Amino acid sequence: MNKPGITMVVLAACALAGWLTVAGADGVQTLRGADVATADQAPAEKPVTGKRPGRQQPIERGFDGQPPLIPHAVENFDEITSADNQCLSCHGLDVFEKKQAPRVGDSHLGMGDGGAPQVVDNARWFCTQCHVPQHDAPPLVENDFEGQRTPAGAAR
Ligand code: HEC
Ligand code: HEC
Repeated sequence: MNKPGITMVVLAACALAGWLTVAGADGVQTLRGADVATADQAPAEKPVTGKRPGRQQPIERGFDGQPPLIPHAVENFDEITSADNQCLSCHGLDVFEKKQAPRVGDSHLGMGDGGAPQVVDNARWFCTQCHVPQHDAPPLVENDFEGQRTPAGAAR
């Protein structure tokens, strides 16, 4: 190939590459609807759907062993620290009946000092590590997950 021929090929390749870059980025959106070329935007913080504890039905569990979802609001509770846990002011062993709140699961209990009485085990102290409140946020992609629970009374 002569010299002008090579130049033509190089120019054509550059033009094609440029066109592909523009065409590739044009109109492609992230799942959140932003342009792919821009920095990912944090979604707006949505309020939780639940209201004050005592007004909600429990949310159906999707599978055996699932930590139940928190049906009520949690925004106004104090942060859980190594010393304080407001969740236990309703769900704790000594108060749940009076507060008409579900009691923490048996699996959450460990032995207190000296063997008795039973207390919430340290491994279960940070409740929101496993239990999460709910937001009205439709899934970004279609999802036809159907929970499969062992029927009540069946052997586990
Ligand atoms: C003021 C009392 C109160 C406080 C504080 C509270 N809860 Fe609740 N919780 C309830 C009541 C009552 C229910 C029953 C559902 C309802 O009425 O909202 C419930 C339901 C739940 C459930 C659902 C249980 C199930 O079997 O489906 C979970 C999980 C839960 N709470 C976790 C928490 C966590 C974690 C915290 C702390 C961040 C917390 N709760 C703080 C009263 C309380
Ligand atoms: C390591 C994960 C984990 C942590 C931490 C945890 N939970 Fe749970 N929780 C579960 C799972 C899993 C279940 C369902 C099975 C069971 O009862 O063990 C459950 C069940 C429950 C239930 C329903 C009990 C029932 O009999 O249906 C309540 C209420 C609850 N947890 C409250 C709490 C509170 C309050 C805390 C904090 C003190 C907490 N959990 C910490 C995993 C956790």
